Amino acid sequence: MTWQEFLVESLTSPSEVRAVASSSQGLAELITDLASLDDADAVIELGPGSGVFTEKIVEKTKVGSTFLAFEVNHRFVEVTRRRCPRCTVLQQSAVHARKHLNESGHEHCDSVVSGLPWATFSESEQDDLLDAVSEVLRPGGTFVALAYVSALLLPRGRGFRRKLHQRFTDVEQSRVVWRNMPPAFVYRAVR
Ligand SMILES: C[S@@+](CC[C@H](N)C(=O)[O-])C[C@H]1O[C@@H](n2cnc3c(N)ncnc32)[C@H](O)[C@@H]1O
Repeated sequence: MTWQEFLVESLTSPSEVRAVASSSQGLAELITDLASLDDADAVIELGPGSGVFTEKIVEKTKVGSTFLAFEVNHRFVEVTRRRCPRCTVLQQSAVHARKHLNESGHEHCDSVVSGLPWATFSESEQDDLLDAVSEVLRPGGTFVALAYVSALLLPRGRGFRRKLHQRFTDVEQSRVVWRNMPPAFVYRAVR
């Protein structure tokens, strides 16, 4: 998907996409390096968009592992399915992750990789989505989430960081990827 097509999708479905461009390769490399993917038997991605992180997750997980991605935008679902056939891309909100993980034969997953725009969600949406993450992630599992630097200026961006510290142990912030548009970093948290 070109950047122009991504922009069209973000302009025509702004309430879903809530980003102007797909993430850079540098950010995709960073978030997937932090996601403890090497030995993972089951991985979940939230909000893959055009599949930039998805492609790297496929590269870094072992063959035979389960990989489910949850995306609400139908155009992005099609694009990511084509780009990453090894990933099961579901056109579903991430809040339904547990049901689909259980149907795939797993009680828990080892890693959750999030490209969701957390700072644009209401308090209750953040809580519902974080509940879904806690439900699927095994104790000791890794949760990594993309965050825009600019989101730290927003009350909901800071609220999301607070919620992470309340719900997870070992919450860390990565270096900033300035070449991403907009500049972004990664939260890494352990359940
Ligand atoms: C900021 S974009 C990031 C896309 C991609 N991960 C990237 O970094 O380029 C956020 C994505 O989350 C999707 N999304 C928003 N709310 C969602 C939800 N509740 N469940 C699943 N996907 C959602 C949007 O459609 C969009 O593709």
